[in-house]
Amino acid sequence: MSTTTYRIASIPGDGIGPEVVDATIQAITKLAQTLGTFNIEFTHIPWGTKYYKETGRYTPEDCLDTLRNFDASLFGAVGDPDVPDHISLWGLLLAIRGPLQLYANVRPVRTFPGTKCPLTTATDGIDWVLVRENSEGEYSGQGGRSHIGQPWEAATEVAMFTRVGIERIMRFAFETARSRPRRHLTVVTKSNSMRNGMVLWDQVAAEVAQDFPDVTWDKMLVDAMTIRMVSQPQSVDTVVGTNLHMDILSDLAAALAGSIGVAPSSNLDPTRKNPSLFEPVHGSAFDITGKGVANPVATFWSAAEMLSWLGEKEAAKQFMDCVERVCAAGILTADLGGDSNTQGVVDAVCREIEGLKK
Ligand code: NAI
Ligand code: MG
Repeated sequence: MSTTTYRIASIPGDGIGPEVVDATIQAITKLAQTLGTFNIEFTHIPWGTKYYKETGRYTPEDCLDTLRNFDASLFGAVGDPDVPDHISLWGLLLAIRGPLQLYANVRPVRTFPGTKCPLTTATDGIDWVLVRENSEGEYSGQGGRSHIGQPWEAATEVAMFTRVGIERIMRFAFETARSRPRRHLTVVTKSNSMRNGMVLWDQVAAEVAQDFPDVTWDKMLVDAMTIRMVSQPQSVDTVVGTNLHMDILSDLAAALAGSIGVAPSSNLDPTRKNPSLFEPVHGSAFDITGKGVANPVATFWSAAEMLSWLGEKEAAKQFMDCVERVCAAGILTADLGGDSNTQGVVDAVCREIEGLKK
């Protein structure tokens, strides 16, 4: 019987991106070789700030067609001290997410074995799934600047919400909530002060909820949600919110659960017309770039989400079990209070993977 081969675009990008992506390719390659149930091929794609400095662009014009040749992408980070962040982010990541209609950004947040949950109210640790609208809202790029350089200079940043955009993310979020034991969804909003887009958001949420009678749901203003996440973490399970709201809440969630160094994310096209993109939540981390100490677990977990999405759920679970055993054994990077470096964690995970051999 022939085994499936997955073709993955590897886009390490900037900062610690190349370090954590290299670590993950080592571990996943080892996993595939050891299990022998699937093949995986990573193709290096050099987009990022170095490419920008050489060519004037973060990605070539046909970048979407390039990505469409792959089953999925594994992304590191983008952002460089020499380039304004809005240029790098829009040049690379936002140039892919929107046009490829990777409209569902899924961020599971869990207190990891070996990590201490800094939140004293979370007696059983944290286990949430955050769903972020990833294609429009506050990050739709609508707006402009006038009278540049004048004392009366003005700028607008228009948040754009569409019925299609809201409905598809709500459906995805209700389905995600349905797949989890609690079957509960919290819809984050700000419809008290934002009386157009956010009111449409609430209205469509209530309409979609009718199709999911087996899922309970509630609605929270985003400011109140920060309080609830801290004071009543056990009341939270699956959460859906706008591009901006969930950008912020998911960083908070990652910190509450332990560290940004373990937080993964999936940028999904749930229709599967386009290849999805998987990446750690964290960025380039200039302060530790090149030191070989970045925590690779966020990218490991992102790759596990990628394997699940591609259909290799059992392999993904076995891989994450190995990663969790390594963390539980105290082989941790400094962000989690350990003294291991990146390669030390990779080697320990590869040894665990070896142990999966029948
Ligand atoms: P950051 O996530 O790069 O770093 C925040 C803090 O977390 C730093 O102290 C860093 O050392 C630490 N950290 C992050 N990842 C870690 C890891 N794997 N192991 C250990 N410690 C880790 O966020 P920051 O500093 O706001 O942004 C730096 C650059 O990254 C900027 O250019 C920003 O635009 C970009 N960025 C890119 C993102 C992406 O590519 N998706 C996401 C967030 C930021
Ligand atoms: Mg962010």
